[in-house]
Amino acid sequence: MAGSPLFFALGAYPHTRLRRNRRDPWSRRLVAETRLAVDDLIWPVFVQEGRKTHTPVRSMPGVERLSVDLLVKAAGEAVGLGIPAIAIFPAIDPKRKTPEGEESVNPDNLICRAVRAVKKAQPGLGIICDVALDPYTSHGHDGLLRGGEIVNDETVAVLCRQAVVQAEAGCDVIAPSDMMDGRVGAIRRALDEAGHQNIRILAYAAKYASAFYGPFRDAVGSAANLGAGDKRSYQMDPANGDEALREVAFDIAEGADMVMIKPGLPYLDIIRRVKETFAVPTFAYQVSGEYSMLKAAAAASWLDGDKAMMECLLAFKRAGADGILTYAAPQAAKLLGSRT
Ligand code: PBG
Repeated sequence: MAGSPLFFALGAYPHTRLRRNRRDPWSRRLVAETRLAVDDLIWPVFVQEGRKTHTPVRSMPGVERLSVDLLVKAAGEAVGLGIPAIAIFPAIDPKRKTPEGEESVNPDNLICRAVRAVKKAQPGLGIICDVALDPYTSHGHDGLLRGGEIVNDETVAVLCRQAVVQAEAGCDVIAPSDMMDGRVGAIRRALDEAGHQNIRILAYAAKYASAFYGPFRDAVGSAANLGAGDKRSYQMDPANGDEALREVAFDIAEGADMVMIKPGLPYLDIIRRVKETFAVPTFAYQVSGEYSMLKAAAAASWLDGDKAMMECLLAFKRAGADGILTYAAPQAAKLLGSRT
Protein backbone atom coordinates (compact mmCIF):
# COMPACT_ATOMS: atom_id res chain seq x y z
CA MET A 1 0.00 0.00 0.00
CA ALA A 2 2.59 2.57 1.07
CA GLY A 3 4.38 3.64 -2.10
CA SER A 4 1.40 2.98 -4.37
CA PRO A 5 -0.20 5.90 -6.27
CA LEU A 6 -3.38 5.35 -4.25
CA PHE A 7 -1.49 5.91 -1.04
CA PHE A 8 -0.35 9.36 -2.12
CA ALA A 9 -3.83 10.25 -3.33
CA LEU A 10 -5.16 9.72 0.19
CA GLY A 11 -3.69 12.98 1.42
CA ALA A 12 -0.85 13.87 3.67
CA TYR A 13 0.08 16.04 6.63
CA PRO A 14 -1.11 18.60 7.57
CA HIS A 15 -4.56 17.67 6.17
CA THR A 16 -4.14 14.16 7.38
CA ARG A 17 -3.09 13.55 10.95
CA LEU A 18 -3.10 9.89 11.93
CA ARG A 19 -3.00 10.83 15.59
CA ARG A 20 -6.61 12.10 15.44
CA ASN A 21 -8.03 8.61 15.51
CA ARG A 22 -5.66 7.62 18.29
CA ARG A 23 -6.71 10.45 20.59
CA ASP A 24 -9.56 8.89 22.50
CA PRO A 25 -10.39 5.40 23.70
CA TRP A 26 -13.70 5.41 21.81
CA SER A 27 -12.09 6.21 18.46
CA ARG A 28 -9.24 3.78 19.06
CA ARG A 29 -11.87 1.12 19.65
CA LEU A 30 -13.72 2.04 16.44
CA VAL A 31 -10.67 1.82 14.22
CA ALA A 32 -9.03 -1.23 15.80
CA GLU A 33 -8.29 -3.69 12.99
CA THR A 34 -7.75 -6.76 15.12
CA ARG A 35 -9.43 -8.13 18.19
CA LEU A 36 -8.56 -10.86 20.62
CA ALA A 37 -11.47 -12.75 22.15
CA VAL A 38 -11.84 -15.58 24.64
CA ASP A 39 -13.21 -17.55 21.65
CA ASP A 40 -9.69 -17.54 20.19
CA LEU A 41 -8.02 -19.36 23.08
CA ILE A 42 -6.93 -22.96 23.54
CA TRP A 43 -5.46 -23.80 26.94
CA PRO A 44 -2.70 -26.45 27.04
CA VAL A 45 -2.66 -28.33 30.36
CA PHE A 46 -0.52 -31.08 31.89
CA VAL A 47 -1.86 -34.17 33.62
CA GLN A 48 -0.02 -36.53 35.98
CA GLU A 49 -0.84 -39.65 37.99
CA GLY A 50 -2.23 -39.52 41.52
CA ARG A 51 -5.11 -37.94 43.36
CA LYS A 52 -5.34 -34.40 44.61
CA THR A 53 -1.76 -33.81 43.56
CA HIS A 54 -0.37 -30.85 41.72
CA THR A 55 3.28 -30.32 40.90
CA PRO A 56 4.62 -26.96 39.76
CA VAL A 57 6.62 -27.04 36.52
CA ARG A 58 9.91 -25.49 37.59
CA SER A 59 10.57 -23.71 34.30
CA MET A 60 6.99 -22.51 33.75
CA PRO A 61 5.91 -20.08 36.50
CA GLY A 62 2.22 -20.50 37.31
CA VAL A 63 1.88 -23.82 35.44
CA GLU A 64 1.29 -27.07 37.31
CA ARG A 65 0.88 -30.68 36.38
CA LEU A 66 -2.46 -31.83 37.76
CA SER A 67 -3.81 -35.22 38.74
CA VAL A 68 -6.97 -36.17 36.83
CA ASP A 69 -9.37 -35.03 39.58
CA LEU A 70 -7.74 -31.58 39.68
CA LEU A 71 -7.64 -31.45 35.90
CA VAL A 72 -11.41 -31.91 35.90
CA LYS A 73 -11.66 -28.89 38.19
CA ALA A 74 -9.39 -26.89 35.88
CA ALA A 75 -11.62 -27.87 32.95
CA GLY A 76 -14.55 -26.43 34.89
CA GLU A 77 -12.58 -23.25 35.34
CA ALA A 78 -11.93 -23.11 31.58
CA VAL A 79 -15.65 -23.48 30.88
CA GLY A 80 -16.44 -20.78 33.44
CA LEU A 81 -14.04 -18.41 31.69
CA GLY A 82 -15.53 -19.21 28.26
CA ILE A 83 -12.39 -20.90 26.88
CA PRO A 84 -13.57 -23.15 23.99
CA ALA A 85 -11.01 -25.95 24.25
CA ILE A 86 -8.11 -27.41 26.19
CA ALA A 87 -5.13 -29.43 24.92
CA ILE A 88 -4.12 -32.14 27.39
CA PHE A 89 -0.51 -33.37 27.66
CA PRO A 90 0.46 -36.31 29.86
CA ALA A 91 3.50 -36.62 32.13
CA ILE A 92 3.93 -40.37 31.96
CA ASP A 93 5.42 -42.31 34.87
CA PRO A 94 9.08 -42.90 33.85
CA LYS A 95 8.61 -46.60 34.67
CA ARG A 96 6.11 -46.83 31.81
CA LYS A 97 8.44 -45.31 29.22
CA THR A 98 9.95 -47.82 26.81
CA PRO A 99 12.02 -47.64 23.62
CA GLU A 100 8.88 -48.40 21.57
CA GLY A 101 6.51 -46.26 23.63
CA GLU A 102 3.86 -49.00 23.92
CA GLU A 103 2.01 -47.09 26.64
CA SER A 104 0.87 -44.63 23.93
CA VAL A 105 -1.64 -47.19 22.60
CA ASN A 106 -2.90 -48.44 25.96
CA PRO A 107 -6.62 -47.50 26.10
CA ASP A 108 -6.28 -47.08 29.85
CA ASN A 109 -3.23 -44.84 29.82
CA LEU A 110 -3.14 -41.54 31.67
CA ILE A 111 -4.25 -39.39 28.74
CA CYS A 112 -7.25 -41.62 27.98
CA ARG A 113 -8.35 -41.63 31.62
CA ALA A 114 -7.96 -37.86 31.71
CA VAL A 115 -9.98 -37.40 28.52
CA ARG A 116 -12.79 -39.64 29.75
CA ALA A 117 -13.01 -37.80 33.08
CA VAL A 118 -12.97 -34.32 31.54
CA LYS A 119 -15.45 -35.24 28.81
CA LYS A 120 -17.86 -36.66 31.38
CA ALA A 121 -17.67 -33.58 33.61
CA GLN A 122 -17.56 -30.96 30.81
CA PRO A 123 -19.11 -32.42 27.64
CA GLY A 124 -19.22 -29.00 25.97
CA LEU A 125 -15.50 -28.31 26.30
CA GLY A 126 -13.36 -29.20 23.26
CA ILE A 127 -10.55 -31.64 24.03
CA ILE A 128 -7.41 -31.74 21.91
CA CYS A 129 -4.82 -34.51 22.23
CA ASP A 130 -1.36 -34.64 20.71
CA VAL A 131 -0.37 -37.61 18.63
CA ALA A 132 3.37 -38.23 19.06
CA LEU A 133 5.39 -40.73 21.03
CA ASP A 134 7.68 -38.45 23.03
CA PRO A 135 5.81 -38.62 26.36
CA TYR A 136 6.04 -42.43 26.15
CA THR A 137 9.49 -43.25 24.75
CA SER A 138 12.53 -43.84 26.94
CA HIS A 139 14.63 -41.89 24.42
CA GLY A 140 12.24 -38.91 24.34
CA HIS A 141 11.81 -38.87 20.57
CA ASP A 142 8.43 -38.49 18.83
CA GLY A 143 8.97 -41.64 16.78
CA LEU A 144 10.55 -45.07 16.76
CA LEU A 145 14.32 -45.24 16.81
CA ARG A 146 16.06 -47.80 14.58
CA GLY A 147 19.84 -47.77 14.37
CA GLY A 148 20.05 -44.12 15.39
CA GLU A 149 17.33 -43.04 12.98
CA ILE A 150 13.73 -42.03 13.62
CA VAL A 151 11.88 -44.23 11.16
CA ASN A 152 8.93 -42.66 9.39
CA ASP A 153 6.44 -45.23 8.17
CA GLU A 154 6.69 -47.59 11.12
CA THR A 155 6.13 -44.63 13.43
CA VAL A 156 3.07 -43.53 11.44
CA ALA A 157 1.51 -46.96 11.97
CA VAL A 158 1.81 -46.54 15.76
CA LEU A 159 0.52 -42.96 15.59
CA CYS A 160 -2.61 -44.20 13.83
CA ARG A 161 -3.29 -46.59 16.68
CA GLN A 162 -2.61 -43.84 19.22
CA ALA A 163 -5.07 -41.54 17.42
CA VAL A 164 -7.83 -44.15 17.43
CA VAL A 165 -7.29 -44.98 21.11
CA GLN A 166 -7.55 -41.30 22.02
CA ALA A 167 -10.61 -40.79 19.83
CA GLU A 168 -12.25 -43.75 21.52
CA ALA A 169 -11.58 -42.15 24.92
CA GLY A 170 -13.61 -39.10 23.81
CA CYS A 171 -11.04 -36.70 22.45
CA ASP A 172 -12.56 -34.26 19.91
CA VAL A 173 -9.46 -33.14 18.05
CA ILE A 174 -6.41 -35.20 17.18
CA ALA A 175 -3.30 -33.06 16.88
CA PRO A 176 -0.35 -34.85 15.28
CA SER A 177 2.77 -33.08 16.60
CA ASP A 178 5.32 -35.63 15.46
CA MET A 179 6.21 -34.22 12.00
CA MET A 180 6.47 -37.61 10.30
CA ASP A 181 5.72 -37.47 6.56
CA GLY A 182 2.27 -38.65 5.53
CA ARG A 183 0.87 -39.01 9.02
CA VAL A 184 -2.15 -36.76 8.59
CA GLY A 185 -3.55 -38.82 5.72
CA ALA A 186 -2.81 -42.10 7.47
CA ILE A 187 -4.45 -40.92 10.70
CA ARG A 188 -7.49 -39.64 8.79
CA ARG A 189 -7.94 -43.06 7.18
CA ALA A 190 -7.44 -44.88 10.48
CA LEU A 191 -9.97 -42.65 12.23
CA ASP A 192 -12.52 -43.07 9.42
CA GLU A 193 -12.10 -46.84 9.34
CA ALA A 194 -12.70 -46.94 13.08
CA GLY A 195 -15.92 -44.94 12.61
CA HIS A 196 -14.57 -41.59 13.79
CA GLN A 197 -15.40 -39.50 10.73
CA ASN A 198 -16.29 -36.54 12.93
CA ILE A 199 -13.07 -36.38 14.89
CA ARG A 200 -11.16 -33.34 13.69
CA ILE A 201 -7.47 -33.15 12.89
CA LEU A 202 -5.45 -30.13 13.93
CA ALA A 203 -2.11 -30.68 12.23
CA TYR A 204 1.05 -29.32 13.74
CA ALA A 205 1.78 -28.55 10.11
CA ALA A 206 4.76 -26.25 10.37
CA LYS A 207 6.55 -27.26 13.52
CA TYR A 208 10.10 -26.05 13.86
CA ALA A 209 13.05 -27.66 15.66
CA SER A 210 13.03 -24.97 18.32
CA ALA A 211 14.92 -24.16 21.50
CA PHE A 212 11.68 -22.70 22.84
CA TYR A 213 10.24 -26.14 23.72
CA GLY A 214 12.66 -26.59 26.62
CA PRO A 215 10.22 -25.90 29.47
CA PHE A 216 7.55 -28.17 27.92
CA ARG A 217 10.02 -31.04 27.91
CA ASP A 218 10.52 -30.40 31.64
CA ALA A 219 6.77 -30.45 32.13
CA VAL A 220 6.17 -33.82 30.47
CA GLY A 221 9.50 -35.17 31.69
CA SER A 222 10.97 -35.89 28.26
CA ALA A 223 13.94 -33.50 28.61
CA ALA A 224 16.11 -35.93 30.56
CA ASN A 225 15.25 -38.77 28.19
CA LEU A 226 16.08 -36.77 25.10
CA GLY A 227 19.35 -35.58 26.63
CA ALA A 228 21.63 -34.06 24.04
CA GLY A 229 19.45 -35.48 21.26
CA ASP A 230 17.58 -33.13 18.99
CA LYS A 231 14.60 -33.42 16.66
CA ARG A 232 16.10 -31.80 13.58
CA SER A 233 15.65 -34.88 11.41
CA TYR A 234 11.87 -34.41 11.60
CA GLN A 235 11.04 -30.93 12.87
CA MET A 236 11.60 -28.02 10.48
CA ASP A 237 14.70 -25.88 10.07
CA PRO A 238 14.01 -22.37 11.45
CA ALA A 239 15.66 -21.00 8.31
CA ASN A 240 12.81 -22.19 6.08
CA GLY A 241 9.57 -20.49 5.13
CA ASP A 242 8.68 -21.88 1.69
CA GLU A 243 8.97 -25.36 3.13
CA ALA A 244 6.30 -24.49 5.71
CA LEU A 245 3.89 -23.83 2.84
CA ARG A 246 4.62 -27.27 1.41
CA GLU A 247 4.05 -28.90 4.81
CA VAL A 248 0.74 -27.09 5.19
CA ALA A 249 -0.33 -27.92 1.64
CA PHE A 250 0.28 -31.63 2.23
CA ASP A 251 -1.56 -31.65 5.54
CA ILE A 252 -4.60 -29.93 4.05
CA ALA A 253 -4.58 -32.32 1.09
CA GLU A 254 -4.36 -35.24 3.52
CA GLY A 255 -7.44 -34.10 5.42
CA ALA A 256 -6.37 -31.67 8.14
CA ASP A 257 -9.29 -29.55 9.36
CA MET A 258 -7.04 -26.95 10.94
CA VAL A 259 -3.34 -26.24 10.77
CA MET A 260 -0.89 -24.94 13.32
CA ILE A 261 2.35 -23.01 13.22
CA LYS A 262 4.69 -23.56 16.12
CA PRO A 263 6.40 -21.77 17.87
CA GLY A 264 4.43 -18.56 17.56
CA LEU A 265 6.06 -15.19 17.99
CA PRO A 266 9.36 -15.93 16.17
CA TYR A 267 7.28 -17.29 13.24
CA LEU A 268 4.65 -14.59 12.68
CA ASP A 269 5.78 -14.34 9.05
CA ILE A 270 4.88 -18.01 8.57
CA ILE A 271 1.44 -17.50 10.11
CA ARG A 272 0.80 -14.64 7.71
CA ARG A 273 1.99 -16.57 4.64
CA VAL A 274 0.00 -19.68 5.55
CA LYS A 275 -3.19 -17.73 6.16
CA GLU A 276 -2.84 -15.74 2.95
CA THR A 277 -1.95 -18.75 0.84
CA PHE A 278 -4.48 -21.30 2.09
CA ALA A 279 -7.25 -19.41 3.93
CA VAL A 280 -7.87 -22.35 6.24
CA PRO A 281 -8.35 -22.29 10.02
CA THR A 282 -4.85 -21.44 11.22
CA PHE A 283 -3.62 -21.66 14.78
CA ALA A 284 -0.48 -20.43 16.48
CA TYR A 285 1.14 -22.10 19.47
CA GLN A 286 2.69 -19.68 21.93
CA VAL A 287 5.03 -22.37 23.22
CA SER A 288 6.41 -22.96 26.67
CA GLY A 289 9.62 -20.98 26.13
CA GLU A 290 7.70 -17.94 24.89
CA TYR A 291 5.43 -18.14 27.92
CA SER A 292 8.30 -18.58 30.37
CA MET A 293 10.31 -15.69 28.95
CA LEU A 294 7.39 -13.35 29.54
CA LYS A 295 6.77 -14.72 33.03
CA ALA A 296 10.44 -14.45 34.01
CA ALA A 297 10.67 -10.86 32.79
CA ALA A 298 7.44 -9.97 34.58
CA ALA A 299 8.62 -11.61 37.81
CA ALA A 300 11.76 -9.48 37.68
CA SER A 301 9.57 -6.41 37.05
CA TRP A 302 11.28 -5.86 33.73
CA LEU A 303 7.97 -5.98 31.88
CA ASP A 304 4.32 -5.44 32.72
CA GLY A 305 3.38 -9.12 32.49
CA ASP A 306 -0.29 -8.66 31.63
CA LYS A 307 0.31 -6.01 28.99
CA ALA A 308 3.19 -7.84 27.35
CA MET A 309 1.17 -11.07 27.26
CA MET A 310 -1.87 -9.41 25.69
CA GLU A 311 0.28 -7.64 23.13
CA CYS A 312 1.86 -10.94 22.06
CA LEU A 313 -1.53 -12.66 21.79
CA LEU A 314 -2.95 -9.80 19.74
CA ALA A 315 0.10 -10.00 17.44
CA PHE A 316 -0.87 -13.57 16.56
CA LYS A 317 -4.31 -12.38 15.51
CA ARG A 318 -2.87 -9.50 13.49
CA ALA A 319 -0.53 -11.94 11.73
CA GLY A 320 -3.59 -13.93 10.64
CA ALA A 321 -4.08 -16.63 13.27
CA ASP A 322 -7.66 -17.66 13.98
CA GLY A 323 -6.74 -18.86 17.42
CA ILE A 324 -3.88 -19.36 19.83
CA LEU A 325 -2.71 -22.15 22.07
CA THR A 326 -1.38 -20.42 25.17
CA TYR A 327 -0.58 -21.43 28.73
CA ALA A 328 -1.82 -17.95 29.61
CA ALA A 329 -5.36 -18.68 28.37
CA PRO A 330 -6.98 -18.25 31.82
CA GLN A 331 -4.98 -15.08 32.48
CA ALA A 332 -5.97 -13.69 29.07
CA ALA A 333 -9.61 -14.72 29.49
CA LYS A 334 -9.79 -12.94 32.83
CA LEU A 335 -8.19 -9.80 31.41
CA LEU A 336 -10.55 -9.82 28.42
CA GLY A 337 -13.51 -10.28 30.73
CA SER A 338 -12.52 -7.34 32.90
CA ARG A 339 -12.10 -4.93 29.99
CA THR A 340 -14.52 -2.08 29.62
C1 PBG B 1 5.51 -33.14 21.52
C2 PBG B 1 5.23 -31.71 21.69
C3 PBG B 1 6.14 -30.71 22.04
C4 PBG B 1 5.40 -29.56 22.21
C5 PBG B 1 4.07 -29.88 21.94
N1 PBG B 1 3.99 -31.20 21.61
C6 PBG B 1 7.59 -30.76 22.31
C7 PBG B 1 8.53 -31.21 21.29
O1 PBG B 1 8.21 -31.35 20.12
O2 PBG B 1 9.66 -31.49 21.71
C8 PBG B 1 5.97 -28.25 22.66
C9 PBG B 1 5.02 -27.33 23.35
C10 PBG B 1 5.64 -26.23 24.10
O3 PBG B 1 6.88 -26.02 24.12
O4 PBG B 1 4.87 -25.51 24.75
N2 PBG B 1 5.78 -33.61 20.27
